[in-house]
Amino acid sequence: MALLDRSVSTIARGIRAVRLRTPSVHALSEIRAQAASRALDRARPHARAIASPLRAGEPDARRALARIAESALDHMRREVREEASRRGLLTSLAIGLDERFSRTDEPEWLDDPEFDRAARVRALEHLDALNVMVGGYAAFFDALRPYLGRDRSRPTRVLDLASGHGGFALAAARMARDEGLAIELCATDLKREYLDIGAAVARREALDVRFEVQDALDLSGIEPGAYDVIVSTQSLHHFPPGLVAVLASEASRVAGRGVVLIDGYRSRMHAVVVGSIGLLRFRDVAFAHDGWVSFRRFFVPEELEVLARLGPEGDRADARWMPPTHCVVTIPTG
Ligand SMILES: C[S@@+](CC[C@H](N)C(=O)[O-])C[C@H]1O[C@@H](n2cnc3c(N)ncnc32)[C@H](O)[C@@H]1O
Repeated sequence: MALLDRSVSTIARGIRAVRLRTPSVHALSEIRAQAASRALDRARPHARAIASPLRAGEPDARRALARIAESALDHMRREVREEASRRGLLTSLAIGLDERFSRTDEPEWLDDPEFDRAARVRALEHLDALNVMVGGYAAFFDALRPYLGRDRSRPTRVLDLASGHGGFALAAARMARDEGLAIELCATDLKREYLDIGAAVARREALDVRFEVQDALDLSGIEPGAYDVIVSTQSLHHFPPGLVAVLASEASRVAGRGVVLIDGYRSRMHAVVVGSIGLLRFRDVAFAHDGWVSFRRFFVPEELEVLARLGPEGDRADARWMPPTHCVVTIPTG
């Protein structure tokens, strides 16, 4: 097992170091970027018309943004399909396979409230173990660094949305402690049950992480500027596209310095690799199943850029591939 762990870790770090592109990232990103740009040109005037009520945190404006974003993404995906068919059989096939792969309503087992609690905790521990093994949490923390520690007179206040059991928040607290960085972390989720799992770990390890119930789609109870950085990791695929735009818009309305949103990159190849690690290394069917479903539901960076750019602070949003298996959206707000 130790040899397998080391091999997975070395391969992941190697891919990250040389930024080795998977075939789908390489072949389709240009077509996607052009389609994203056209979809944004079309949708932006509608989004601008609701910028003021969005900045004021009005619920009707959030609903309107969700509709505009859904339609923009549909438009982008349609253009990608049309352009791919003009480019020839191979490109058309690549897009067709991606569309087929991404078309799923299958829920993740961990989202089922009836799912066995012990199996849920085990799967979450395996997610943490994989993230540590492939250097995921360290890479997520690196994405936060530009927003940390500018004002040395007080700790950087970080809000983690849809944090689940706080896997990243806890890892970030450990990294900050080890590096002597002053950070106050608040991990939030809709489900108290997940937060309780994380709170128990924070108590056991004496980590400075608060756990609070909070809807990631409605931050009206939080004063703008109350947090310097708002982050969300590995959760965007739990929301329909329109609500990803709402989450990004709400986070950028409230964050003092910036927003960092990280999620997986949609890819059949990665789905097979992570599913296999779940079965062979962890012997965890729930982890393998949910890993496979997640990889089908993930977005690609060009799609996330469309969704993040429609918010009132979205002009500065940037989305990119985070090798080997993730995408990162950053929105500076300060
Ligand atoms: C994949 S899990 C979280 C992963 C976690 N952030 C990590 O990196 O390990 C997705 C989480 O989104 C939460 N969630 C779904 N809808 C939400 C909402 N509207 N507000 C807050 N959390 C939500 C779920 O309860 C679940 O815990």
